[in-house]
Amino acid sequence: MRKTRRFIFLVLAVLVLTMGIAAVSAANLPQAGDDITVGAQLYDKWYARLGVESPQGNHPIWERQTTNTRSGPETWRCAECHGWDYQGAAGAYGIGTSHYTGFPGVFVLAERLSEEEIIAHLNGEIDPLHDFSNLMDERSLRQLATFLKNGLIDDREFIDPVSLRAIGGDTENGKRRYETVCAACHGLDGQTLALKSDGIDQGLGDVASNDPYRFLHRSRFGVAGVVMPIGRDLGWSTEDSRDVLAYVQTLPKRVGQPVPAGVGAASEPAPQVGGPGTSVFDGILAGLGVFFGMFGMSLLFGLGFVAFLGAIVFLLRKRR
Ligand code: HEC
Ligand code: HEC
Repeated sequence: MRKTRRFIFLVLAVLVLTMGIAAVSAANLPQAGDDITVGAQLYDKWYARLGVESPQGNHPIWERQTTNTRSGPETWRCAECHGWDYQGAAGAYGIGTSHYTGFPGVFVLAERLSEEEIIAHLNGEIDPLHDFSNLMDERSLRQLATFLKNGLIDDREFIDPVSLRAIGGDTENGKRRYETVCAACHGLDGQTLALKSDGIDQGLGDVASNDPYRFLHRSRFGVAGVVMPIGRDLGWSTEDSRDVLAYVQTLPKRVGQPVPAGVGAASEPAPQVGGPGTSVFDGILAGLGVFFGMFGMSLLFGLGFVAFLGAIVFLLRKRR
């Protein structure tokens, strides 16, 4: 009898241990997020999301245009050809902007196509040069299609194309969310991290005002290759992200200064209330908070399970 009991305990112990390990490693995945979020980050910069080298040279389709003079890795990004507003040349990357390529958007089409048909556009079945299947695996192509099918929004509902201001934003809601989650790294004034864009050092306020489309996409889905809280994972609606955009647009701008080559991001912490030391500390705390939040949940789950098993064993023993 005692042997059987020992055996049961052993089995239970192994079970609980494996569950614990599974739960912890799930919580510990370096890049979390559901398929829509992953797809959105692939759209942002697929090689950063996948942690691979970007291809050499320009994307072959790039040669079909001459108006956008960027070159190299950027020409391989979905966002560079199709826009942060998913409207391509019909949207913010329209004629007259430095991003203009004349390439179509994905918004209207993605609405009409099935995921399978979108994948056909991604593996070169429609246009042999538009083939990404040798650069990423099938799962990534599917995640891209899932994002295009289910994650796109019509930015014209959220951002005024002329003033570039958020439409109908609730800045109180935006401020509260920004200050509880985002300020830990970006600072209350949005200036703590230097964000480089086309060689210019920007604060978050500049990005929100200059490229609200990129801001909205990234506050909803995070930034590919960067450890940062993701609006969608925090349960934020698109409206919440829009409200944060509206609030960040009110933050002070850093007058765009060209960055000398070799100077790293965040090299000049802006003086601010609380001091830079505190905000770095806050950032670490926020990171730890997220990690232990998930870890704690797994632990609670595991403990609950152990308690449950304990109760059963206890009852069985009592019966005997
Ligand atoms: C170098 C520019 C370029 C890049 C990078 C690029 N595309 Fe395209 N894409 C195009 C062009 C041009 C078309 C339309 C003609 C064609 O299919 O070649 C297109 C068509 C599409 C279509 C069909 C929609 C339509 O209106 O024809 C989808 C969907 C699409 N691309 C998604 C993506 C995704 C997702 C990525 C990133 C993995 C991506 N594209 C990267 C240029 C690009
Ligand atoms: C853990 C630190 C951290 C937190 C918290 C954080 N960010 Fe970030 N954020 C970063 C880093 C790092 C970058 C990339 C900096 C770079 O490009 O060098 C970044 C970049 C961005 C960008 C891209 C800017 C651009 O040039 O496109 C946006 C938008 C952004 N953050 C918004 C937010 C929002 C909104 C929140 C709150 C939900 C937030 N961040 C919270 C660390 C953080």
